[in-house]
Amino acid sequence: MCGIIGAVGRDDETLETLVHGLAKLEYRGYDSAGVALTGDGSGVDICKRAGEIDDLRESLETRSPSGAVGIGHTRWSTHGPPNDANAHPHKDCTGDVAVVHNGIIENYQSVRDELTTSGHTFRSDTDTEVVPHLIEEGLANGLDPEAAFREAVGRIEGSYAIAAVIAGEETIFAARNDSPLVLGLDNEIFYLASDVPAFRDFTDQVVYLADGEFARLDDDWTVTDADGTVLDKDVETVEWDPEETGKSGYDHYMLKEIHEQPRALRQCLRGRVDELGGSVDLGDLGDLSPTGVQFVACGTSYHAALYGAQLFEHAGVPAQAFLASEYAASPPPIGDALVIGVTQSGETADTLSALREASRRGARTLAVTNTVGSTAARECDHVFYIRAGPEIGVAATKTFASQQAALNLLTLATAGGDTRSVVPALRDLPGNVQALLDDSRAADIAEIYEDASSYFFIGRGYHYPVALEGALKMKEITYKHAEGFAAGELKHGPLALVTEDTPVFAIVTGDNEMATKTIGNVKEVEARDAPVVAVTDGQSDVERYADHVLRVPETHPRAAAVLANVQLQLVAYHVANRLGRSIDKPRNLAKSVTVE
Ligand code: M6R
Repeated sequence: MCGIIGAVGRDDETLETLVHGLAKLEYRGYDSAGVALTGDGSGVDICKRAGEIDDLRESLETRSPSGAVGIGHTRWSTHGPPNDANAHPHKDCTGDVAVVHNGIIENYQSVRDELTTSGHTFRSDTDTEVVPHLIEEGLANGLDPEAAFREAVGRIEGSYAIAAVIAGEETIFAARNDSPLVLGLDNEIFYLASDVPAFRDFTDQVVYLADGEFARLDDDWTVTDADGTVLDKDVETVEWDPEETGKSGYDHYMLKEIHEQPRALRQCLRGRVDELGGSVDLGDLGDLSPTGVQFVACGTSYHAALYGAQLFEHAGVPAQAFLASEYAASPPPIGDALVIGVTQSGETADTLSALREASRRGARTLAVTNTVGSTAARECDHVFYIRAGPEIGVAATKTFASQQAALNLLTLATAGGDTRSVVPALRDLPGNVQALLDDSRAADIAEIYEDASSYFFIGRGYHYPVALEGALKMKEITYKHAEGFAAGELKHGPLALVTEDTPVFAIVTGDNEMATKTIGNVKEVEARDAPVVAVTDGQSDVERYADHVLRVPETHPRAAAVLANVQLQLVAYHVANRLGRSIDKPRNLAKSVTVE
């Protein structure tokens, strides 16, 4: 996820402050970085580079922008590959305006077309670049800098935290909508950032901006609403230890990322579903119209692929999910199938290898990935980004939820389906996940069952991949045995393992034939004295047979599978935490597995 830092300070310190701030934001993940500075009567000087902060430092050794006022940015690509041109800050045609931005500008293409027609030249592939050109337009039309900034922000739709500097102004102009922005106050020096760690070494006095608010930093700070009315904002004191701020107060990245899921889901859906009409538009993905689908993926992404295959099947398109590492060993007839690689990193060797095999055999390939510019994104014929933001914890959490959401969008857009009932459920997902996070009893369940010898997870239909994923999460971070089963399979063997020492997590939502059958399986384990934890929306009577309940909000079955998984993530997290495991870096595992 991109990071922003800004500072209005002293000539000889601002550049160093910006670079320090960018380094503090590294934990968010990024693929390029840059700074823009200006000062009294001087122009705007930019230095930016693809790569790491150390690469930027290297460039700064040869040409150092100077000035008391500056903005900096770490970019996590969403529009256009990670390269020098796409790195922020972006400038206008005159070079007098520089802008950094986090978020997604949904109407950037129409604004860009309009600006291009009126003579503006664009130098990057980013959505962000429309903003400096819009400010340039305002200035050319005689507006003062603040009015030009406000007018530009008024023209864009989507999510943004934006900061701009303009030549000749010792001021930072900023605005936020659905992307965090916070001010830091340190006597006569003022900071602005997407996240407190960027300036926490300098001050603990902060002012959080709300959606729709604007800030102006010069020799003072002001926050205004959209009408320009000055707001009386609270100055708060941040208590966090600077060392821990990357985790925003959470004990582990995994827990932070579990809690980031509402936001990740919003980002995934943004601009892709029509709020009113209930339709789905995936922009320039191209006309895929698959007549058959083969998914290839590993681990958590494989579980998302199993879920995705069910979505396509329900839409009438034959679909199968393959473990990528097994794909080449027994290659399925490919026909004119679309082969979809689901991969968070876009770098998993097994998945790349399966995609290459499919490509060799003439298939069209599509990467569903979180990582812009990754190998999968570059090598596949098409790419669809899940936009979860960087995931630091080795255990995949928010990327699984975003994969589930993205695969729903993909199915609706390319194979059709019941858009009118699914789209509202998708739109409700971020709020429903938040409600669940606010009220989960997962920590209590973890306390009760932390000593169990094994954990079993059962589900049917969309909940079968979730049962597999619940077990994977449990085993990888607790180091304890866990298995997921299709609920109907229990009695064909695994039931022999079930004892009073093996809690069974049963995912049952809705009140239909599938729920009734799973309840039948619950009764089977109950009769063997196994404790049962029902993950349910309360529509069926599964609670009668359960020892404990983890509640999910009532919704469409597809969305229920996202929600149920969040409860299981939390149980695994809390068990691992109670056992003192290395949650963010479990033993023997890597975030990106680049060997077959
Ligand atoms: O980057 P990918 O999605 O291709 O990674 C595939 C698996 O290695 C990954 O999903 C792994 O299973 C998870 N990190 C486990 O939480």
